Amino acid sequence: MAAPVVDAGYLKEIDKARRELRALIASKNCAPIMLRLAWHDAGTYDVTTKTGGPNGSIRHEEEYMHGANAGLKIALEFCETIKAKHPKITYADLYQLAGVVAVEVTGGPSIDFVPGRRDSSVCPREGRLPDAKKGVSHLRDIFYRMGLTDRDIVALSGGHTLGRAHPERSGFEGPWTKEPLTFDNSYFVGLLEGDKEGLLKLPTDKALLEDAEFLRYVRLYAKDEDAFFKDYADSHKKLSELGFTPRASTAA
Ligand code: HEM
Repeated sequence: MAAPVVDAGYLKEIDKARRELRALIASKNCAPIMLRLAWHDAGTYDVTTKTGGPNGSIRHEEEYMHGANAGLKIALEFCETIKAKHPKITYADLYQLAGVVAVEVTGGPSIDFVPGRRDSSVCPREGRLPDAKKGVSHLRDIFYRMGLTDRDIVALSGGHTLGRAHPERSGFEGPWTKEPLTFDNSYFVGLLEGDKEGLLKLPTDKALLEDAEFLRYVRLYAKDEDAFFKDYADSHKKLSELGFTPRASTAA
């Protein structure tokens, strides 16, 4: 599909959609699932074949029915209410904007958002997203395939500061932190504290303690929230732009 023309009109729609997303997320308390939607659309990217990525393909049943995407239909439907009012905005842009707004409204860092992603109807094969039951080498396989780094793996795992697991979706249960609607560094503090009743740690979360390079970042982010916010904003922007080269002339 052609890239959208990012002119003054498009930027105005983005601005309105951003405000509507803020209101929607506040009224539905749905920041966690909106962030998960943005991540799952983007996280299928393959840097070698340049396929997958934040291209809106997750809107298709073929992809949202993948096991890893269980539950995301809810977030797709929330986004559809915004899309109906702003049909010009691509799904690819809308889902990434929703992710950025979800982090912002829960108290996280501001993430630079550049519009202009094109939509794709080609769905990646199932199995490109990480398997929560696996460990260090699996995390590296998946994130390096996207073209991301060890620092990105740890910073982005901090997205689990929001939300919870649902047994009927993933087989896991519970929130990672005591305040799952607040974006802060408590995910890393909790990881270092070890198992606590009622709080979740996936095998892939625990894997961050098992590798010296990962652990270095976990310790840094647990003690320095500013360092976490800075790196998170940077890694989230990278994730949201995988395979997308913003055009220099997108300004109005
Ligand atoms: C590192 C590999 C990752 C694995 C294996 C993983 C796995 C999971 C699993 C199993 C759930 C529970 C789903 C459910 O039952 O509802 C979940 C939820 C979530 N994940 Fe991840 N995730 C990973 C990385 C990320 C990243 C990079 C982000 C965002 C930057 C993220 C954001 C979220 C959020 C916000 C939720 C909560 C959703 C809700 O409350 O509905 N995850 N993740």
